[in-house]
Amino acid sequence: DRKPVVAIDGPSGAGKSTIATFLAKRFGLLNLESGAMYRAVALKALRLGLPLDDEPALASMAETMVIELQPTENGNRVLLDGEDVTAQLREKDVTQAASKVSVHPKVRALMVAAQQRMGAQGGVVMEGRDIGTVVFPKAEVKIFLDASADARGYRRFVQTGPSEGQPTEDAVKQELRERDERDRNRAESPLKPAEDAVLVDSTALTLDEVKARAEAIVLEKW
Ligand code: C5P
Repeated sequence: DRKPVVAIDGPSGAGKSTIATFLAKRFGLLNLESGAMYRAVALKALRLGLPLDDEPALASMAETMVIELQPTENGNRVLLDGEDVTAQLREKDVTQAASKVSVHPKVRALMVAAQQRMGAQGGVVMEGRDIGTVVFPKAEVKIFLDASADARGYRRFVQTGPSEGQPTEDAVKQELRERDERDRNRAESPLKPAEDAVLVDSTALTLDEVKARAEAIVLEKW
């Protein structure tokens, strides 16, 4: 029998990756980070010096590039044209560029088609912004994971660890806010919960509580 598609959407820093990784392990599914694909597009664009607002140039680049997501115990290993770029995709300039290239409908169409192929047989947890609304509107399970902007910023700040050369808490929160606004306000596939998504607000929950909620939702909907 067919294993389900679990769609996890929400703003940056809500804990999607942690929960996706947990659910994948718990239910024997592959965890796929759709955001890594937009990050890979951004990285290649930066390397080539393509303007991030040049949709045709970005789309023709994206059409021929090969992005592979390899699920591991903690997130995806990402190959870009065969090169392991996993660490570089987390860099700040790549993160910001990913947010910018992802507004373009032609870029999105290519990524969405690739994501649909990856999940066509079921058996995946895919996290992103438009998984339950656009990529897999018929996903068996849809979770929209949210938290207050303050909580998300704080968690992201603690995650990177306050040390020399690290951005301040305010800088982290500011950056998160900018990406969020862009995701929510873009014309193409804006960030919003699917009508049939189960909302989980993790602001006042512990990680274990969020895991338990997510697990219960999968068990109920599967
Ligand atoms: O999830 P992650 O932070 O890695 O995603 C990077 C960027 O890619 C996000 O800021 C968002 O703008 C974009 N994205 C998207 N649609 C998705 C996943 C990510 O637009 N399904």
